[in-house]
Amino acid sequence: MAYYQVLVLFFAAVIASGTSNTHIFGGRCSRRDPNVDACLLRSFNSFIEYMKGGAPELGIEESEPIVIDELSIALGGGPDGYRASFKDIQAIGASNMTITNVRSDLETHQFQLTLFGPHISARARYRSSGVLLLVRASGGGEYWGEYDGVKAKVYFRGEPYTRNGRTYLKLQQLKLDFSVKDIQMGVENLQNSNAVLEAALNLFINTNAQELLKEMKPELKRDLAEKMSRFLDNVFQKIPYDDWIVD
Ligand SMILES: *[C@@H]1O[C@H](CO)[C@@H](O)[C@H](O)[C@H]1NC(C)=O
Repeated sequence: MAYYQVLVLFFAAVIASGTSNTHIFGGRCSRRDPNVDACLLRSFNSFIEYMKGGAPELGIEESEPIVIDELSIALGGGPDGYRASFKDIQAIGASNMTITNVRSDLETHQFQLTLFGPHISARARYRSSGVLLLVRASGGGEYWGEYDGVKAKVYFRGEPYTRNGRTYLKLQQLKLDFSVKDIQMGVENLQNSNAVLEAALNLFINTNAQELLKEMKPELKRDLAEKMSRFLDNVFQKIPYDDWIVD
């Protein structure tokens, strides 16, 4: 082999190792592997582990907390129906979620992930109006929520394309849903309020926690799906598909 050929090979190897992201996934998965979903489960979990503290080289910030600008709920109609809005929602604990199951269809580039998180805490500013349990519940304060046993399902579909000789995936669709096994939540430091109203509100909120979550869910799902789509879009643009899945 000529000297220049060795040099070319050497630089090719350096460049290849410099641009490879396979370490993020703990290796590649093969499309031919009959247990490819088990391999993807390990890969995606190493990826989550790697992302935990943020990954500046991929333009990914630290994943805690998740911030949601605003959510609102309305219970009952009419001018006196109870309405509440939550602002500056900060949720902590999502980075502790792990993937417990993966189902993939690599022909059509569809993935369904099941995730589990032991505990998520949320804090927000809270405002309400209307009547609740015959009590005028107008006012504002602080909301807190402790969510145990969070289960989520995320479905996404991508479309492969070629860029600079590498295969990348473009996100086409993403859907998610979630459930919470046990919820404790309440409001505190209410302004324009008194101890009776605060106690009534907290009793109501805790006995109807799942119902309230259900009310918030459509907005919450939309917001989280948008955040996750942006995140995956960015990751797919930076990490070639053939860095995690090969033929
Ligand atoms: C993640 O879990 C560990 C172990 O249970 C816990 O110490 C840590 O506070 C959790 N992190 C977050 C951000 O909730």
